[in-house]
Amino acid sequence: MDYMNSLPWENSEFYKAWLAQTYYYTRYTTRMIAMSAAWSPSGNHEYFMTLVDHIREEHGHDQIAINDLKALDGSIDQYQENGLSRSIWETQFYKILKHPSYLFGCGIALETLAAKNLPQLYDRLLKAYPAKACNFVKVHAQEDPQHVSKLLGLTEQCSVSDREEILRSYDQIVDLYYYLLMAVHTESKERSAATAA
Ligand SMILES: [Fe+2]
Repeated sequence: MDYMNSLPWENSEFYKAWLAQTYYYTRYTTRMIAMSAAWSPSGNHEYFMTLVDHIREEHGHDQIAINDLKALDGSIDQYQENGLSRSIWETQFYKILKHPSYLFGCGIALETLAAKNLPQLYDRLLKAYPAKACNFVKVHAQEDPQHVSKLLGLTEQCSVSDREEILRSYDQIVDLYYYLLMAVHTESKERSAATAA
């Protein structure tokens, strides 16, 4: 996403606001994966175990965003959850009830974005901030390429109609994430202006 690279990551107001919203949309990740695993077909052990492994891998990632924010003297209490962040995670619980595999669109979208953009973003952040404030991006730059290939493998086992729904969910998350980045940028400009006034 070229738009992601065009954003002012070196501006700490922007980066902190992004970390806060990242916390908000990742704090239910392990719960939603657990729900998808619970509803998975009883005969498909690969599906179930892949998601169980994924829960372990995602555990604590929301806290990494909080710790990065603290390392920049920020606090999650200074940020409200944006409606777009909430839309990213809240919609997944509805989709999982329709079919547990519909969660994959969200995972593939966010982890593809991470795999494509975060390695280069991590290098950029390290030039502006201490390493202890860059761990969320570091972890996801390293881990998400394997997650994408596992989720794509499970998606290939789904029916044509389920794959179409997963694709619709993928497109929805890409749109939501784009507008979330725009909202974070707007919020950070307002915070910078308020600080300067
Ligand atoms: Fe994660």
